[in-house]
Amino acid sequence: MDLEELKRECLDCSRCGLCQTRSNVVFGVGAPDAEVMFIGEGPGEQEDLQGEPFVGRAGKLLDDMLELIDLDRSKIYIANMVKCRPPKNRDPLPEEQSACSPWLERQIALIRPKMIVCLGRIAAMRYIREDFKISREHGQWTVKNGIMTMAIMHPAALLRDPRRRPEAFEDLKVLQQAIRDYCTHTYD
Ligand code: URA
Repeated sequence: MDLEELKRECLDCSRCGLCQTRSNVVFGVGAPDAEVMFIGEGPGEQEDLQGEPFVGRAGKLLDDMLELIDLDRSKIYIANMVKCRPPKNRDPLPEEQSACSPWLERQIALIRPKMIVCLGRIAAMRYIREDFKISREHGQWTVKNGIMTMAIMHPAALLRDPRRRPEAFEDLKVLQQAIRDYCTHTYD
């Protein structure tokens, strides 16, 4: 099984009710052998329409954040906790997250990233620890399932509260240093 086969399977998914309201499954994009993987929360309106993660306003900011540390979508992999848009962009329900998480687990198992960066509270609480406090713990590395993992603030949160951008920039520099220390692909 490779990532393309997994994607084909995922595009047919009907494991939860979100399949009834989605326009597209948003499986993920990027390098199948990425050393760095980003995990967002779930598709919004534009992502649902285009079938690609982070293509709306928050996605534009994510691209700018990546560029600050010499990354772009071709060098990393971006996926979401849930692959289908929750109606009106509500938080994904626990049962939707549980139904969807095997897709993400299989993506991680195939890509085998060296590091995972959760974008925002929802992804961090699901993927790192249920009681993860993004305001206190962002930018700190932890090891999860043998993979270096951290959470940074979600770009949508940074759009809502630009005063937090300097902290996010510090976190990106922590990520950049780890890439220099542990990754072997070329990043500049
Ligand atoms: N927010 C997310 O968490 N994921 C997307 O794909 C878009 C916005």
